Amino acid sequence: MLRAVELFSGIGGMHCALDFVDLNYEIIAAIDINPTANLVYESNFPNAPAMNRTIEGISLNQWEKWNADIWLMSPPCQPFTRQGKQEDLNDRRTDGFVHLMKSILPQLKAKPKYILLENVSGFEYSQAHQLLLDTLQAHNYYYEQYLLSPIQFGIPNSRLRFYLIAKQQEKPIETYSSSILTRISNFERLYNKLRQKFPSKGLSLEENSLHENDQITDRCSHSSEILVQPDQSIYINDFLISNENQDFELNEKQLERGLHVCDIITCHAKRSFCFTKSYGKYFEGTGSLFRTLSNRIRYFTPKEIANLHCFPLNYQFPEQITTRQAYSLLGNSLSVFVVGVLLENLFERS
Ligand SMILES: C[S@@+](CC[C@H](N)C(=O)[O-])C[C@H]1O[C@@H](n2cnc3c(N)ncnc32)[C@H](O)[C@@H]1O
Repeated sequence: MLRAVELFSGIGGMHCALDFVDLNYEIIAAIDINPTANLVYESNFPNAPAMNRTIEGISLNQWEKWNADIWLMSPPCQPFTRQGKQEDLNDRRTDGFVHLMKSILPQLKAKPKYILLENVSGFEYSQAHQLLLDTLQAHNYYYEQYLLSPIQFGIPNSRLRFYLIAKQQEKPIETYSSSILTRISNFERLYNKLRQKFPSKGLSLEENSLHENDQITDRCSHSSEILVQPDQSIYINDFLISNENQDFELNEKQLERGLHVCDIITCHAKRSFCFTKSYGKYFEGTGSLFRTLSNRIRYFTPKEIANLHCFPLNYQFPEQITTRQAYSLLGNSLSVFVVGVLLENLFERS
């Protein structure tokens, strides 16, 4: 059984990916400082030991006891986002990650055999990235780096992210490749599994008559690296709970502000913009809106965004979590499908 530690665990995207790949695993600790995220995590994974702690606050002794086989982590991305100040290692939000790289991994006798890290695209130019590579090289980890987005796999959502998968080797590695790959193989099994989870609903005549540009080579996609045949890319329709949803419609004032700056798609779309943590708060650049069959404009619901992230069908947000909070947590989370593909590749090569 794979002993996994989920660091910066948020709402458990990494946990869902372990499940999706059908690995025989046990989460021995899930660590995050955000009580709202932890509440959602605990309500979905009541048996996983979620800890409301800072990563920096966990002793080396505790790490030795955990004796983890794999570290899964999504350190905070604000120090590296293009919209932010890009303070990199000077931003205190990197403290947890720096602590892992400088004070835990080098000292740890029971080092994890595997590491998987997710972050925003742009991380690859940071000092934090260099610290990661230096630390991995010093401890004989073979690694591969990727920039991938779900839209490449036919999932109608752009979410270009940096990923690194690493495996510790017994002997030193002579040369390390600095290339960042934008393609990956070995995803067919998971694609088929995804289609069982979100089967094609087909489009009615009315739905089909919508003139949505269904090409995925559009302005929001990572167009040169599409990995599936055109007929394998999936309609947004298959991820919807229902076409109409009055509770999520924009009011007059919102329509006035939002219509000019927002990307609006229909059920016929095979794409959508990346949903950020500010979805529902600001319009521009935070994610697509949806035009219903009755020509109403509405937000995607948190559950629909969770579907686009390929979270489990039974994944839920507890009642006390507001819609805004759910959007924010989902915006910080990840594509379960893409992490699943990386896990599949990490273990295939082991
Ligand atoms: C990018 S999000 C990770 C999201 C997660 N992968 C998911 O699926 O929801 C980063 C998380 O790190 C947490 N965090 C930030 N600094 C931390 C620290 N020093 N120790 C523990 N958690 C921290 C934040 O609360 C946030 O939930």
